[in-house]
Amino acid sequence: DCGRELCKRNCVNVGAGYQPARVPKGQNCTGFGLAADGRVTDPPLQKGCMIMTPEKLVELAKEAMTHAYVPYSGYKVGAALLCADGTVYQGCNIENAAYGPTNCAERTAFFKAVYDGHRDFVSIAVCGGKDGVITGGFPPCGVCRQVMREFCEDDFIIYMINPEGYEAKTLAELLPYSFKASEHMA
Ligand code: THU
Repeated sequence: DCGRELCKRNCVNVGAGYQPARVPKGQNCTGFGLAADGRVTDPPLQKGCMIMTPEKLVELAKEAMTHAYVPYSGYKVGAALLCADGTVYQGCNIENAAYGPTNCAERTAFFKAVYDGHRDFVSIAVCGGKDGVITGGFPPCGVCRQVMREFCEDDFIIYMINPEGYEAKTLAELLPYSFKASEHMA
């Protein structure tokens, strides 16, 4: 069961042998088998396929947090970035003795994905906490929001993980009045 409510928020089908699709906003997912052109596919899902949900993306972000390299702050951050084709890229923060070169978890995930040829993104889940203990919601920093702006549309969703679950906001909500290539560099 993919959970119809969740599917209204860009649930995608992932897995080998099936071309995953973004479920159009406002439409209920059939649970599986919706192709990119809107066709219902048959068979709906191949063996080993799964429905990606915010909850699963949250779990992948928490797992990513355990990879953090944080000898200076001790503050671990994890991110899980969902591509439109269903691929998920995980990222952690990677600190540096000179501080400035530190890379945030979100950008680690984005740069891994872009290097691999991905340009179309659905959502990202992010969490962080001292020594990896989540005590509150995690809002991505301004630099990471601008990197999201480079590749994502206004409806890109950021799941900010907190001890109870997560809070979902769109990129438009987190970065209003933003500097955008298509508007300002054309
Ligand atoms: N950090 C992230 O990984 N993502 C953010 O959006 C904000 C901050 C990291 C950088 C540094 O390693 C630690 O959190 C404390 O600032």
